[in-house]
Amino acid sequence: MKTVFVLNGPNLNLLGTREPAVYGAHTLADVEQMCIETCARHGFTLQFRQTNHEGVLVDWIHEAGRLHATGELAGVVLNAAAYTHTSVALLDAIKGTGITLIELHISNVHAREPFRHHSYIAAAARAVVCGFGVQGYGLAIDGLARL
Ligand code: DQA
Repeated sequence: MKTVFVLNGPNLNLLGTREPAVYGAHTLADVEQMCIETCARHGFTLQFRQTNHEGVLVDWIHEAGRLHATGELAGVVLNAAAYTHTSVALLDAIKGTGITLIELHISNVHAREPFRHHSYIAAAARAVVCGFGVQGYGLAIDGLARL
């Protein structure tokens, strides 16, 4: 049984109360439940995590990379939140591990402020999902299953 990592970056622990007009009313616990159900449909094991710390995301990508090396990883769905737009360290971690990674955003970042239009992660991502609200998490896992 292969594993999917769903990794969430800073401020996503506030989902449900954070700018609901942009991010919706679902909490991160709701998102985790959707991911549990989607992974179960595909026969994936799920690791669902959130941190506000960039280095922790780097460590988790390395952990996923070790599973990738042994053939046990289906892929990583990463909502790096604001680190998407700033983090060379995350780009290097993804490149360094060779994992299959889907970049995910709840909102359509391209319809928002110009500083959200650039992603350091996109260059190393297999695909990008954005603008589907929290339903994007399920779509990203479905996408991993179809690769
Ligand atoms: C986000 C978009 C980012 O620009 C923002 O910093 C976030 C969330 C999204 O899911 O839409 O924190 O990644």
